[in-house]
Amino acid sequence: MSRIPRFQEHLKTGFTAEAASAARFRAYAAQARTDGLPNLARVWLDLAAAKDQLAISLLAASGQVRGKDTDIASAISEERYENDILYPKMIRDVDEPVADVFLKVVATQKEHLRRLESLREAVNASRGDVALPAEVEKGVPAQAAERS
Ligand SMILES: [Fe+2]
Repeated sequence: MSRIPRFQEHLKTGFTAEAASAARFRAYAAQARTDGLPNLARVWLDLAAAKDQLAISLLAASGQVRGKDTDIASAISEERYENDILYPKMIRDVDEPVADVFLKVVATQKEHLRRLESLREAVNASRGDVALPAEVEKGVPAQAAERS
């Protein structure tokens, strides 16, 4: 039996469902783009952004968004758990083609872990905001990523 309170469990279930919908809708948008249907792609992206907002409100309601080093620590322990326990366990349980998919995820997540660890150092070393890492500077601006 789980020891987390029932309302926390339900908030977590809602968060997971909405966050997964957002990611699924982005995958549908990518497919629509591949199919030469940019307007359909935009509608999927707009719905995905709305799902993100629901996921955010559910996570916030469960008290799991606390800011700065606390959020970074949560992100680091989540990535470590997935890479050290979750994916290795599943890799042992599936055929090679699926195992390869998981192995790629683990490899990519190692890079994410490295980024999170430098972010933790940067946050600890700064009094205000952090300097933007080069990899983010080159990528999508935060405003565009947040826009619905
Ligand atoms: Fe992850």
